[in-house]
Amino acid sequence: MKHTLVVRVAQLSAVILCVLLNTVPAPAGDHTYVGVEACKLCHEKQYDIWKASAHAKAYADLKAGEQTNPRCLSCHTTGASAAFPGVQCEACHGPGSAYSDMDTMKNFRTVWDAGLNRHAAATCVNCHNERSSTFRGFDFKTSWMEIMH
Ligand code: HEC
Ligand code: HEC
Ligand code: HEC
Ligand code: HEC
Repeated sequence: MKHTLVVRVAQLSAVILCVLLNTVPAPAGDHTYVGVEACKLCHEKQYDIWKASAHAKAYADLKAGEQTNPRCLSCHTTGASAAFPGVQCEACHGPGSAYSDMDTMKNFRTVWDAGLNRHAAATCVNCHNERSSTFRGFDFKTSWMEIMH
């Protein structure tokens, strides 16, 4: 138990450090991205809302030359990789390789340890900040109303 607590504190410190440094946190542990189509299999309602949102178009909205610029990719893709274009589910919910099977998803004891991010709402400011040249401020409540699912 004590060990788990130490790990949690270490993880939390890493997150705080990322927020302070304005960087996007790397996937926790060995967890990797599975892509939005995999989530769609069981979350069609969320998928439809997402597909109609600006996040789904974030990569397509970049011009050809910008689509290979790592700076732009850091916020306009998932995991800073054009292999996962746009701000997909896992950009906020965490890389899904270990949590997106039915048994794990249904088990709220293990789903967090498998990489599902408990604090999806805290990820917004990783990208909605003054490093974006179009930034005009960010208000969670109004922004969340636009993408609520
Ligand atoms: C095999 C089916 C399946 C797949 C694939 C799947 N999920 Fe789920 N997910 C579920 C089920 C079942 C639940 C629990 C019941 C519910 O809330 O719908 C759930 C719950 C969730 C929750 C809510 C957790 C909470 O605390 O309320 C989130 C967030 C989530 N899934 C995200 C994802 C993401 C992101 C992906 C893709 C990486 C994904 N899921 C893939 C079946 C799935
Ligand atoms: C921009 C960030 C973001 C993206 C992208 C995103 N979500 Fe969410 N999602 C959230 C937040 C914030 C919540 C509210 C609950 C929370 O804070 O964890 C949430 C809630 C959920 C829930 C729980 C809904 C409920 O009724 O309890 C599910 C399931 C879910 N998301 C699945 C998905 C799936 C599937 C995708 C992709 C198709 C997706 N999300 C894309 C941020 C996001
Ligand atoms: C991985 C980076 C990233 C994360 C995390 C993220 N966003 Fe975004 N968001 C973007 C980008 C990039 C755009 C612009 C997409 C476009 O128009 O091409 C955007 C656009 C939006 C828009 C459309 C209006 C506007 O400002 O252009 C809303 C609303 C929004 N995001 C809400 C949220 C909320 C709420 C969260 C957290 C739950 C969140 N975002 C998390 C990158 C992100
Ligand atoms: C720190 C994260 C971040 C970086 C880095 C970033 N963007 Fe964005 N971008 C956003 C967000 C968030 C939005 C949504 C509007 C806002 O809040 O700034 C956005 C919006 C946009 C839009 C839509 C503008 C509109 O009219 O709504 C374009 C185009 C764009 N960015 C291009 C780029 C290009 C090109 C780069 C690389 C040179 C880049 N962005 C780098 C986060 C980022």
